[in-house]
Amino acid sequence: MKKRLLFVMVSAVLVLSLLAGCGGKAPETSNGGEKKTEPAAAPKEEKEIVLRLAENQPADYPTTLGDKEFAKLVEERTNGRIKIEVYHSAQLGQEKAVIEQVQFGAIDFARVSISPLAEFSKSLNALQLPYLYRNAAHMWKVLEGPIGDEFLNSMTGAKLVGLCWYDSGARSFYNSKREIKSPADLKGMKIRVQESKLMMGLVSALGATPVPMAFGEVYSALQTGVIDGAENNWPSYLTTSHYEVAKYFTLDEHTRVPEMIIASKMTLDKLSKEDVDIITKAAKDSVKIQKESWAKKEKEAEDKIRAAGNKITVLENNEEFQKAVAPLYEEFGKDYKDVIKKIQDTK
Ligand code: GCU
Repeated sequence: MKKRLLFVMVSAVLVLSLLAGCGGKAPETSNGGEKKTEPAAAPKEEKEIVLRLAENQPADYPTTLGDKEFAKLVEERTNGRIKIEVYHSAQLGQEKAVIEQVQFGAIDFARVSISPLAEFSKSLNALQLPYLYRNAAHMWKVLEGPIGDEFLNSMTGAKLVGLCWYDSGARSFYNSKREIKSPADLKGMKIRVQESKLMMGLVSALGATPVPMAFGEVYSALQTGVIDGAENNWPSYLTTSHYEVAKYFTLDEHTRVPEMIIASKMTLDKLSKEDVDIITKAAKDSVKIQKESWAKKEKEAEDKIRAAGNKITVLENNEEFQKAVAPLYEEFGKDYKDVIKKIQDTK
């Protein structure tokens, strides 16, 4: 009997000490919660850091593949010490709410469109004016040069830091009512726009009524007739199934709205300079995968939508659209004339 009691006690001590040993690797989350206390013996540089990235596109979308590459490179280059968890499909919320959370460090990173982001840092509007870029190559020349770098670092006043640019092609109108060949056909239509004053102004300038709304709400708004149409790029038109409920698509390509991985300045300020450098470089290195995937998905999406029998209108030229939206340069660009000129002059 005594022997058995001794055995039970020894086993209990063993189990307890094993459990205590596991505690040394408790991850530190930046979840707005308190830092977990590390055992005194654990060397500081061994501390595992878990950070979160918000993405509103689905798991296999080009931007999500880019995010995952970013996370993979950071994990590899820190030997597993820094982990970035990618939450796709708007699991952490819609874009505007996510940006607010990134500002105060409740979310560490997000991949966002610069349309809603410009509401937090106005000068970004200069990069998404209608018909600003001649084509995708022109936009990339600007983004990957000194102008792009300056904009990535221009948001510290909003407690945000831009890490890299992602592609999202060009945006065009689609609707459930009729074919659009000129701005006159848009007259009276209710068109969903991103939560952006510039995008509201653009749709108003074309004679339609802008309805700002989060991305995740657009499908049911189209389906129930709350809105008549929206605007986006080929892959988004496909993956959201908007193409099933709004079958008229006009390739007017009114804007190229670049996308960005943003970081919370609060999160970066807590990390060492070496870690911030690794994170920044990894984000930039992830762009290649995102752009390759974008080019592929853009083509695939267009092919699928055409095969589905949607009415695709290709304009002979978009002069009428360009003329109608030209006043936006004064309204949204008057404080950024120099940089707009530099962008236009980039060859
Ligand atoms: C694009 C972009 C999204 C954005 C969406 C929108 O699809 O990738 O980040 O939310 O446009 O229209 O809101």
